[in-house]
Amino acid sequence: KDKSTVSITVVGASGDLAKKKIFPALFALYYEGCLPEHFTIFGYARSKMSDAELRTMVSKTLTCRIDQRENCGEKMDQFLERCFYQPGQYDSEKNFLELDRNLKQHEAGRVANRLFYLSIPPNIFIDAVKCASSSASSASGWTRVIVEKPFGRDSESSAALTRSLKQYLDEDQIFRQVFSLIDHYLGKELVENLSVLRFSNLIFEPLWSRQYIRNVQFIFAEDFGTEGRGGYFDNYGIIRDIMQNHLLQILALFAMETPVSLDAEDIRNEKVKVLRSMRPLRLDDVVVGQYKSHTRGGVKYPAYTDDKTVPGGSLTPTFAAAALFIDNARWDGVPFLMKAGKALHDRRAEIRVQFRHVPGNLYNKNIIDLATNELVIRVQPDESIYLKINNKVPGLGMRLDRSNLNLLYAARYSKEIPDAYERLLLDAIEGERRLFIRSDELDAAWSLFSPVLKDLEDNKIVPEYYPYGSRGPVGSHYLAARYKVRWGDLGSDQ
Ligand code: BG6
Repeated sequence: KDKSTVSITVVGASGDLAKKKIFPALFALYYEGCLPEHFTIFGYARSKMSDAELRTMVSKTLTCRIDQRENCGEKMDQFLERCFYQPGQYDSEKNFLELDRNLKQHEAGRVANRLFYLSIPPNIFIDAVKCASSSASSASGWTRVIVEKPFGRDSESSAALTRSLKQYLDEDQIFRQVFSLIDHYLGKELVENLSVLRFSNLIFEPLWSRQYIRNVQFIFAEDFGTEGRGGYFDNYGIIRDIMQNHLLQILALFAMETPVSLDAEDIRNEKVKVLRSMRPLRLDDVVVGQYKSHTRGGVKYPAYTDDKTVPGGSLTPTFAAAALFIDNARWDGVPFLMKAGKALHDRRAEIRVQFRHVPGNLYNKNIIDLATNELVIRVQPDESIYLKINNKVPGLGMRLDRSNLNLLYAARYSKEIPDAYERLLLDAIEGERRLFIRSDELDAAWSLFSPVLKDLEDNKIVPEYYPYGSRGPVGSHYLAARYKVRWGDLGSDQ
């Protein structure tokens, strides 16, 4: 019988992320039987609320996945019964002591493990961590605090934040009070699969170098704007919001050398190495954009600066494209292009690997535009992996076309893909740190982007304005063309 218990406190329980992602992920884990036998969930926030009110709020956000329909309502009720609420200020030792008393009651003398998920703005991180560690950490088990970006604005502020957190918590597993920085893209199914694809198949890894790969593209697009999140966003911009973390993390997994093992430290060692082999991004290698209002089909879509929470005249980029390089033996000279933007014409996140031309191709005559192979790893939506090949069109003549070898997840697997937060929360509970960012990785990541972020701000670089719902600034095509690259997401893939 399990004698320990886990208490999960969602600090900032009434916030958007908590409602949209954290509670639903906890419920999905509960449904799957992934939470320990004894667990309690606490919502912590400033507003006055009863347990019943918290449950009503949470219940509105819970859904049952297609494969979790059986007894779903019943399971939800059982889950909600384990959810409680504690009102309190984020910097009040007294309030955290009250939380501690409440947690103890539920823990009922078992070995108590405590997980705090900080779903609050970064300016109150430190206070909350201080209070949690001094007044509500566990005396008998572990205490783990999860924080999420924005984690600083540049190398210095991020390092300062890490130093402050380390006054109260450590990041090394051997300690009982630790913090972990989450990057939810690492919890996405296809991002996790990257290593499987590379290291568990014979056919990809031998091609995974400058010898066969012409360029690699990391593309993130959303078809909606900041919509009310402008207050947060304006202080950060798309480079800090998406590139420095989500896209760079994917790049590191894509480009790292084979780790010694699947152990968290071994993987993170390789990621740091590849990040440290990269050249800091130069202003010349970046294009920034910002969306402007656009009317289509009688509907007027707002400009970024129409968002009430955005200061008028803001130059914050909502789009950026960048060319990055890894100066090591494997990747010397291969452009790694990134593109991230809001309010574009579609929503997608994907990796595109463009291979070199076949030398002395015999079929140059048989196709007008003999394409090179391209491997696409579609992270979302419509998760899939496909490889574009040249193929003979059936018939008596000799005509080639481009076709896909296609692994479409929805067709291959009937199970719905768990949300990234489910995996990350489960890993946090189990103490698996593979998908969390170590602080030396974070430093290396900031070193690549901090100088250019400063240049953009110091020089007040005006973004290229692009209409809401468009494909983004043309500047991104010039940037790619400079490195003889064509973005792969422009044509039809089928
Ligand atoms: C967040 C960014 O980290 O990721 C948001 O702050 C963005 O701006 C979001 O919308 C995208 O995440 P997902 O999982 O919806 O692709």
